Amino acid sequence: MLERMNHTMHEESKQGEAYAPFVNDPTAYNKKFYIESYGCAMNFADSEIVASILNENGFGATRNFEEADLVLINTCSIREKAEQTVRKRLTELRKVKKYNSGALIGVLGCMAERLKAQFLEEEKLVDMVVGPDAYRSLPALISEAETGQKAVNVLLSRDETYADISPIRLDSNGVSGFVSIMRGCNNMCSFCVVPFTRGRERSRDPHSIVKECADLFNNGYREVTLLGQNVDSYYWVPEHNSPSTGGGRGEAAVTFANLLEMVALVNPLLRVRFSTSHPKDITDDVLFTMAKHENICKYIHLPVQSGSTRVLQLMNRTYTREWYMAKVDRIMEIMPDCGLSSDIITGFCTETEEDHQDTMSIMEHSKYDMSYMFFYSERPGTLAARRYKDDIPEDVKKRRLDEVVKLQNALSHKSNLKDLGKTFKVLIEGNSKRSDKDWMGRTSQNKVIVFPKEQYELNKGHYVMVKVTDCTVATLIGKIEP
Ligand code: SAH
Ligand code: SF4
Ligand code: F3S
Repeated sequence: MLERMNHTMHEESKQGEAYAPFVNDPTAYNKKFYIESYGCAMNFADSEIVASILNENGFGATRNFEEADLVLINTCSIREKAEQTVRKRLTELRKVKKYNSGALIGVLGCMAERLKAQFLEEEKLVDMVVGPDAYRSLPALISEAETGQKAVNVLLSRDETYADISPIRLDSNGVSGFVSIMRGCNNMCSFCVVPFTRGRERSRDPHSIVKECADLFNNGYREVTLLGQNVDSYYWVPEHNSPSTGGGRGEAAVTFANLLEMVALVNPLLRVRFSTSHPKDITDDVLFTMAKHENICKYIHLPVQSGSTRVLQLMNRTYTREWYMAKVDRIMEIMPDCGLSSDIITGFCTETEEDHQDTMSIMEHSKYDMSYMFFYSERPGTLAARRYKDDIPEDVKKRRLDEVVKLQNALSHKSNLKDLGKTFKVLIEGNSKRSDKDWMGRTSQNKVIVFPKEQYELNKGHYVMVKVTDCTVATLIGKIEP
């Protein structure tokens, strides 16, 4: 994929897409690897860690899997469809063995973790299965697989954050980069497989985060997105820190609000975004920090999942409808211009028409600018799979999803219409998809805006003031303010 990953990669539409890395100087490496990524931004960020580990071990990247010695697929388990997409793609990638009988195929990420060695029985031509906390062992696993043995490492870790590894940016636009700030998840949303595939939550050393952001800035990047499944529960305690990472005794603990500020101070020209916020953990402290720094984008992805308190309870989201609505009101009170988006699941176990209407009405209350919407897909091993019956017929799940999508389109359009005539500071990301006579960029609120280049000497990575003159459901259209 990616022109840009839109900060949360779990949309159904994006799951089929993947990217291959740029080609390094081929003479610098004696072997070639090819990697494709599926799922959320964290998986894409992990692939950049993997690329770095492989580069260190003599593998250069290629965009053609046919010429690779090592073909990797970084996988997602979030919904059944995500896993189907990966399996289908694997049958394609397996053809590499026709061109190069010694080539190895490795499965990384959440599906590797969920299925473990079972994967090797199901997909005979796979040589390696490597879970998200085991990427440092890739060189050893490759050596093992080269001798003809199947290689597996799916151990989850309590402290691995890959803090010291400098990611190799894959297919980036050179303007915005992802920075992983934590791994795993300690929440137990009953529908969700992530706690099983990613393990316990752990926070990365803030000094290494700030350094990575500063390096990106010095390399011309103008936007970082801090990534975690639940960024608001970021918490780093100095005791856990080793002297080599630059921290020392007497340092205070670092909360997410503290971290946001540290990153905002890297440079006023560096925009800061983050994803994802769990409504139960986002604090006033975070909201005030956002309000205080112009370069922290006024945009929050705040997944609601359902608007019904009863369903939220079954989902184990730990907030009620009213509590969520009050949180939205609080955000708008502190930052009236804040953009808001959500994730929504339709047809969760026992969901009634009334529950569904509650979801529709909470969407209207929240006035989301955008949402990622899914119908419920039961995942083996989750709390919901063990406790509740997946009792909503597929046609009902899909009809409700359809209604939610239609409502979101109307809300997005309304939100864009409200921007007509306003002027926004836009960070240019590159040419618009349609024409190289137009730029594409984003507002602080994360809305995509397209506008003619005209006679101005601008480039990607530059900021420009743009007045909104028109819009569609998904995009603002503007004109540079001279
Ligand atoms: N950590 C993030 C979400 C990670 S998964 C958070 O808590 O918000 C991304 C989204 O996928 C979730 O927000 C949810 O809407 C959706 N999702 C997760 N499991 C699902 C399932 N079993 N069926 C359908 N959608 C699911
Ligand atoms: Fe899954 Fe919930 Fe954790 Fe998000 S917060 S990753 S939905 S368990
Ligand atoms: Fe998918 Fe794993 Fe992310 S299940 S959504 S790739 S954490």
